[in-house]
Amino acid sequence: MRNKTRICIIGAGYVGLTYAAGLASKGFRVSLVDVNEATIARVNLGSSPIDEPGLERALAGGVKKGLIRGYTRLDDVFQGSDVLFICVGTYCDDAGNINLAQVRSVARDLRDCYQKGTDPGYKVICVKSTVICGTTDNVVLPAVEESGKKAGVDFGLAMSPEFLKEGSALDDILHPDKIVIGGMDQRSIDGVKCVLQAFLGPDEEGKVIETDLRTAELIKYAQNSFLATKISFINEMSRFAEAFGVDVGKVARAIGMDSRISPKFLNAGPGFGGSCFPKDVRALYTAGKRAGMEPLLLKAVLDVNEGQKAHVLSLLTSARQVRGLKVAVLGLAFKAGTGDTRESVSRTVVPGLLGAGAKSVKVHDPSHFARDEFKREFPASDRLSYCERVEEALAGADACIILTEWPEYMRLRPSDLAGMAPRPLVIDSRRILPRHEFKEGGIEIVTLGESTSRSFVP
Ligand code: NAD
Ligand code: UGA
Repeated sequence: MRNKTRICIIGAGYVGLTYAAGLASKGFRVSLVDVNEATIARVNLGSSPIDEPGLERALAGGVKKGLIRGYTRLDDVFQGSDVLFICVGTYCDDAGNINLAQVRSVARDLRDCYQKGTDPGYKVICVKSTVICGTTDNVVLPAVEESGKKAGVDFGLAMSPEFLKEGSALDDILHPDKIVIGGMDQRSIDGVKCVLQAFLGPDEEGKVIETDLRTAELIKYAQNSFLATKISFINEMSRFAEAFGVDVGKVARAIGMDSRISPKFLNAGPGFGGSCFPKDVRALYTAGKRAGMEPLLLKAVLDVNEGQKAHVLSLLTSARQVRGLKVAVLGLAFKAGTGDTRESVSRTVVPGLLGAGAKSVKVHDPSHFARDEFKREFPASDRLSYCERVEEALAGADACIILTEWPEYMRLRPSDLAGMAPRPLVIDSRRILPRHEFKEGGIEIVTLGESTSRSFVP
């Protein structure tokens, strides 16, 4: 089935690439634009520059059918596109402000395309990047209008936040819980809706939420902040559990059975990482401050998260002296199923171990994308080495810290640690190992959020 609407996706990262593959699978012709030449060269060979389940296959299929083609210049495809999705990065600066440089640059490119071309006809420009309220109407709109074209007349403007998760990005796009479309007018909303509803079944019309631009922008931040709050909440409970001699897993299971709470996002762990929660909560917090508020809850969510990252290292330092210790670090990615190490706890733990004088730190991650990305920032040295196999990392180590919940770490059993030094210590920050089995196997194990200490007296 071929779909007539011609799509242009600007920014070929996690969101843009996955959208290109998802829309091509629904018969759309997609032009994918990115300033990164290497990314585009790979896309045109049908190869995915990122590690996402099913993405490589879907991209290759789209390229082979002639439905996906990559470009490095917007100019080359602007004229022939009906709906353009902006999917570039929106990072945080050191002060926590959202950095809109990439969005501004795309808006200027759009302006230039309008200025250069003959009348290209009505198009809808839709922001998919996560942007603070007011970006679409106060940054993108005026920049494009500098071309002399008028929003609402010559082009439509929409904002449709994206809710995909890394590790299941394609699946999330193909089976969305909801689709939020904010628009400056109904025509803009309809332009985007006719594309995105390809991901909905015949009875799923009710999953589309139509709003104005700013509401769509805030929905995205509200959702990410809420999920991050749930994680910081359970992480704080995990600290109570450790102090009071309780297993936080049982607490989470019990409260999660209340349908008003739900069991999701109640896994205590080493703090939330990734390219989104940390930067989005920070950006909303900072924007709130600029708007004259004092967002106390968001500040607490961020503080608890930083504290939790540091706590992982302290689980080791309270059991062993790090100076002179040989440590295996299992997991660099910020969660299982992705090769992304952005804001991962590994970025706190590995330099922390080296800084505290560990004799050697051997790191492993099943994803070579994660290993390569991490290595670029933390190059191998006489004390830091990268291992392709878990056994290599464990060989001779005095202690092992599990940072990511990869299935192959979940399968580790005491016999797999035979190559470690005598009296090994395991720190399980993801709570994925059967503690009793390890203890019975004579291995000292510290599980985050779990303690048998009964020393607390009220
Ligand atoms: P990313 O950093 O992986 O990719 C951004 C891409 O945009 C890069 O390939 C970059 O080269 C390209 N780019 C930069 N400037 C450009 C320009 N002027 N023209 C064309 N291309 C340009 O980002 P991402 O993870 O895909 O996230 C994109 C946006 O979507 C962000 O706002 C993010 O917060 C949001 N988001 C991300 C996820 C996720 O899981 N990664 C999920 C939902 C929403
Ligand atoms: C998150 C959201 O889940 C997506 O809906 C959203 O679109 C995306 O951010 C975004 O805005 O970019 P993602 O960052 O890929 O997706 O990953 P999550 O699965 O949400 O995990 C985020 C972090 O929280 C990870 O470090 C994970 O380990 C941690 N986490 C998650 C916990 O510590 N406990 C949990 O119970 C759940």
